[in-house]
Amino acid sequence: MPEAFQIITYPAKSLREPSKEVAAEKIGTPEYQGLFDVMIYTMQQAQGVGLAAPQVGRNERVIIVEMKSGPKIFINPKIIQRSDATAASEEGCLSLPGVWGLVERAKKISIEALNRYGRRVEIRAKGFEAIKFQHEIDHLDGILFIDKIKH
Ligand code: CO
Repeated sequence: MPEAFQIITYPAKSLREPSKEVAAEKIGTPEYQGLFDVMIYTMQQAQGVGLAAPQVGRNERVIIVEMKSGPKIFINPKIIQRSDATAASEEGCLSLPGVWGLVERAKKISIEALNRYGRRVEIRAKGFEAIKFQHEIDHLDGILFIDKIKH
């Protein structure tokens, strides 16, 4: 395995910059497949359950979410549906070590994205999985969970 990426921590400016979509034809290239592998490795080394590319210095729309079946890559993810029902839960972030806070998010969401093989996928998520998707997708728009902490 190659070395893990360094995880960028708050208040780095790049965490606040919006990320660009990945062109579908780039997904299969060794450069991007390598990026996905090293992102997964980096998240696992840091014992995280999610990671977004801007956290490793790439302002591109790529996230990892730890699913029941293991860590999965989602490219250009979009939330296409969200429940009106919300729930608050304690969140943290690898880019904000030692910081925790209560964040309210939709209980259920549907997302569409491309997977690491370039195929379009639609995922319905609830509970902790739904939280992870919303947290990671926020990173792609320069939004951090501390922006949403309930006071
Ligand atoms: Co985060």
